Amino acid sequence: ADLEPPTTDLITLTRHILSRQRALGEEASGDLTMLLIAIQVTSKYIASNVRKARLINLVGLAGASNVQGEDQKKLDVLSNDIMVNALSASGKCSVMVSEEVDEAIIVGGSKGTYAVVFDPLDGSSNIDAGVNVGTIFGIYKVSDPSKASVADVLKPGRDLVAAGYTMYGSSCNLVLSTGQGVDGFTLDEALGEFILTHPDIKIPSRGKIYSFNEGNSLHFYEPTNKYLESIKYPSNGKPYSARYIGSMVADVHRTLLYGGIFGYPDDKKSKDGKLRMLYEAFPMSFLTEQAGGVATTGTQRILDVVPKNIHGRCPVFLGSKDDVEDLKKFYAAWD
Ligand code: AHG
Ligand code: MN
Ligand code: MN
Ligand code: MN
Repeated sequence: ADLEPPTTDLITLTRHILSRQRALGEEASGDLTMLLIAIQVTSKYIASNVRKARLINLVGLAGASNVQGEDQKKLDVLSNDIMVNALSASGKCSVMVSEEVDEAIIVGGSKGTYAVVFDPLDGSSNIDAGVNVGTIFGIYKVSDPSKASVADVLKPGRDLVAAGYTMYGSSCNLVLSTGQGVDGFTLDEALGEFILTHPDIKIPSRGKIYSFNEGNSLHFYEPTNKYLESIKYPSNGKPYSARYIGSMVADVHRTLLYGGIFGYPDDKKSKDGKLRMLYEAFPMSFLTEQAGGVATTGTQRILDVVPKNIHGRCPVFLGSKDDVEDLKKFYAAWD
């Protein structure tokens, strides 16, 4: 068969954001566009460092720990600093929350009308093994930049105006939603541009994959374990496949594309689970819902949870609608 010649009409991320900006009614300001452009540059720079890490002495620990008591890797700190610098300089952001910084960062004198919450590098345990890692971000509107404060980010995920992640894997993919569906882009390294490769991602309504750290089963509560039993020993004789990378970005990326369920439950050891609301659970739940899936704590829509502090955690189950609804039934029946 004749092969088609390459496209002459590339949709770059910048072009896509500009077209969305009109639809968002952002008129002349273009602030969200500028902010997203700043974020895409950080992703390219982090991608480049992740790719070279072993060659440029970027593996291993940084020597400090973050507010959650995790030992920071060199790449956690570098990625954080890249993002803090770029977002501060963008002039569009007056509040930042990062996994790696104890307190919310207020950008002094900024007229930026947005707040950005981020996990600069997700997948610590995989960083030095060359396994997929990523960056997760969420964007809130700030009502009055002259009074920007932590209150601007202690808001439920349903208030996000945009969210996304970049996955540093066999290819570098940026997945974004500004509330009008989800689109995926692949970094063309020759061009240095993210190109639209996955327009309007929709999660299949049912999948065949489950993604949990089942090593924690001993501590899981009954509904989680009973649900897992139901998909491993189903009456139709067709059990689900297990896939767990241990990088939320990679596990959620696969779930968006292939369907199935990703879970990080609360359990007898971790009262609220592990994943952080602002920069892990909310952005990923926003993307999941925008792709037609469901994201729940087991008993509540994740995007309706109101965070009490910036590093607060919540249980996460997200993915294909039918799969997550099945899981919810086990929680509803629990006494
Ligand atoms: P981070 O590397 O940003 O601290 O996040 C790690 C998170 C997340 O990526 C992943 O889903 C989860 O930790 C894996 O946890 P376990 O190792 O407990 O399975
Ligand atoms: Mn993370
Ligand atoms: Mn991280
Ligand atoms: Mn961490």
